[in-house]
Amino acid sequence: MKNKSLISINDYSMDELTTLLDRAEDFEKDPVQPLLKDHVIASLFFEPSTRTRLSFESAINRLSGRIVGFTDASSSSVKKGESLKDTILTVSNYSDLIVMRHPLDGAARWASEVTDIPIINAGDGANQHPTQCLLDLYSIRKTQGSLDNLHVVFVGDLKYGRTVHSLVIAMTMFNTTFHLVSPTALKVPSAVKRYIKDKGLTYHQYTDLEEVIPQADICYMTRIQRERFADPMEYERVKNSYVLNRKMIEPSKENFKVLHPLPRVNEIHEDVDSSPKAYYFQQARNGVYVRQALLTTILGV
Ligand code: CP
Repeated sequence: MKNKSLISINDYSMDELTTLLDRAEDFEKDPVQPLLKDHVIASLFFEPSTRTRLSFESAINRLSGRIVGFTDASSSSVKKGESLKDTILTVSNYSDLIVMRHPLDGAARWASEVTDIPIINAGDGANQHPTQCLLDLYSIRKTQGSLDNLHVVFVGDLKYGRTVHSLVIAMTMFNTTFHLVSPTALKVPSAVKRYIKDKGLTYHQYTDLEEVIPQADICYMTRIQRERFADPMEYERVKNSYVLNRKMIEPSKENFKVLHPLPRVNEIHEDVDSSPKAYYFQQARNGVYVRQALLTTILGV
């Protein structure tokens, strides 16, 4: 995996993903190690972020690495019309690896094709969010003891949700049964459904959330993303489609956990937060360990 970019989650094999999760477990036990003291990492965020950016920064700081970059492209020469290619080629002169979030699907792949240094996709449009996927896999394995043979419910914006696309693709490696709950207008793209079928696995589609909770091991809630809608009226129609509350999870199994990549708007009621079945804030914490594992692996330290 040395020098290997991570653009889509299926760039990495099941063995490579498992190696990263094992390494993340080691970082959870011992997170402060000066492994990146000789490295500079660029963090280019063309789109807002709290968790991804700050957990990368936290991971780099705990590893004694240094960070250059921007959190708002309008403070960079992109504002003057500089192309993505020129930005990437320039930043490649100043860093050993680039972490990039961009609003356009495919931007991370494009970046990886114009530079020789590794790129980590921190989310590209509605396409993929592979590092979120790593922490989702880590969280599922940690709470369930294994990634194999689980019933996973995905809820909300399954059309534009890049975290959903990455996690569905990754979970096809582990004999998952998929339960896909969304408004009709926000169903999982057909390419993702075809991916599940091609792996010989089963998916079920629903518009009602409550009926599926008793059989679930994991409920992966997602936000309906206002920023992905061209038509604001369409967003208004679907924005409150699902609000998970404490009563709704009462019939769930003992091992059931609620995950959410966050940020949430109102799709999980705050009364769920104190339930032992809520795991979304611990999930965000796991982001530091998997990103430490990923950075050190790609940089070969
Ligand atoms: N989960 C996630 O990507 O959150 P941020 O947008 O805050 O980085």
